[in-house]
Amino acid sequence: MMRNRLELLRRLLSENGSIWITLDDNEHAYAKVLCDEVFGRSNFIANVIWEKADSPRMDAEFFSIRHDNVLVYAKDRTLARLNRMESDQDEVPTHYNKTDELGRRYYLKPLRAMSSRDDTREARPSMYYGITAPDGAVVFPKKPDGSDGRWRWGREKYEAEQERVEWIDGRSGWAPYYRIYADTAAARPPETIWSHPEVGSNRTAMAEQKALAEDVEPFSTPKPEALLRRILEIATDSGDWVLDSFAGSGTTGAVAHKMGRRWIMVELGEHCHTHIIPRLRKVIDGTDQGGISKAVEWQGGGGFRYFRLAPSLLEKDKYDTWVVNPQYNGEMLAEAMCRHEGFTYAPSDTVYWQHGHSTERDFIYVTTQTLNQDHLAALSDEVGPERTLLICCSAWRGNPNSFPNLTLKKIPNAVLNRCEWGRDDYSLEIRELPVLEIPSATAEEGPSGDARGRSGRVAVQPTLFGAGTEG
Ligand SMILES: C[S@@+](CC[C@H](N)C(=O)[O-])C[C@H]1O[C@@H](n2cnc3c(N)ncnc32)[C@H](O)[C@@H]1O
Repeated sequence: MMRNRLELLRRLLSENGSIWITLDDNEHAYAKVLCDEVFGRSNFIANVIWEKADSPRMDAEFFSIRHDNVLVYAKDRTLARLNRMESDQDEVPTHYNKTDELGRRYYLKPLRAMSSRDDTREARPSMYYGITAPDGAVVFPKKPDGSDGRWRWGREKYEAEQERVEWIDGRSGWAPYYRIYADTAAARPPETIWSHPEVGSNRTAMAEQKALAEDVEPFSTPKPEALLRRILEIATDSGDWVLDSFAGSGTTGAVAHKMGRRWIMVELGEHCHTHIIPRLRKVIDGTDQGGISKAVEWQGGGGFRYFRLAPSLLEKDKYDTWVVNPQYNGEMLAEAMCRHEGFTYAPSDTVYWQHGHSTERDFIYVTTQTLNQDHLAALSDEVGPERTLLICCSAWRGNPNSFPNLTLKKIPNAVLNRCEWGRDDYSLEIRELPVLEIPSATAEEGPSGDARGRSGRVAVQPTLFGAGTEG
């Protein structure tokens, strides 16, 4: 199941994009090997440990599982664009244990090089020089055994950055140290262990869901919004596209929306309607003030479109030939063909061959029948000299050129040529479908215009081919 999907997802990724997959230990190792095959081992970026539990489960049989894994792969590691993390001065790690006169946090590191391999005068002769201690003595870098060591900085850098140097009068006399400031470590690389106080736990996520909808059964394995925020901060910039093809309770879309990213979610289950759509409505109208809303000052805005995907119109039969999917009834097929041929679907109640039109005089007729010369002659008569008809059928016998007002197309080829189903380049043009805009009095409305697309609208999309419209 996963291989096909990973291969498709890889194709959908932008060249500098990344994919993030959360798994427990049951599946993680298998997914790692599969991802190595699909994305290439060289495109593995990291395995992040998310501390999903905030307390031990006393009823665990052997171990109380505290973490999930988040596998991160790039489409192409050499092009991958992953952001570093901003340092928050309130979150400065405890080893920055000193504060300077301006309130900046720092720690001290010895100026003498202490690596085991090349910390000798011999290894870097230019880094062996004398510097003057507070008592006026000239100090040289000496190793504990008395042999010549070296400083970490050359003389030039020492001269330039002297104000960062602090002297400590220790047992073996004055020794220089230099300050490492927390704020110069801003934009540090993300680390691979994410604790629950930083990004939330399953319990946090459950509480977030309860706050959103008291009366709705919470999704069983939700993720906290802060976890998705961390991922999106690293993996994306404002305006980027985020896809969650297994949307669950819709956390990815909700967080992406609040962070000004564009998003697509796909969900098979009924919780698309019970969880995701109601949740996104609350995001858009600004009533969702939980999760990361306060942190990103979310006030509402934007919109979304909802599609119900039809089954694929074509499928392969046992002879490996493309045939029309038997799940399609006549109406679905006719509507699909109208869209692909650029006709407006408008089936006539009285004229069986009018399924749609492109102009007042140009019509389309869709049938899975095989038409013979008599059928074609009868149709041509009915259409008459003033009108034209495109006939999409499974096959025909006879010579269509004998009827100037008829054009014939075989359905599978016509659809294949336009949709390219089953090919690498999947170019079904959803953008061309008409969008029905709901006036701004609806619940989905938000304040107007900014980079997050705050147009205050939810476009309700007719289903691609089939019946039913929701949003
Ligand atoms: C564990 S949840 C994912 C949660 C979500 N991605 C998150 O990070 O919070 C997996 C979801 O995938 C959905 N799913 C499973 N197979 C699917 C498919 N073929 N297409 C779309 N959704 C699918 C399930 O219904 C379920 O809601």
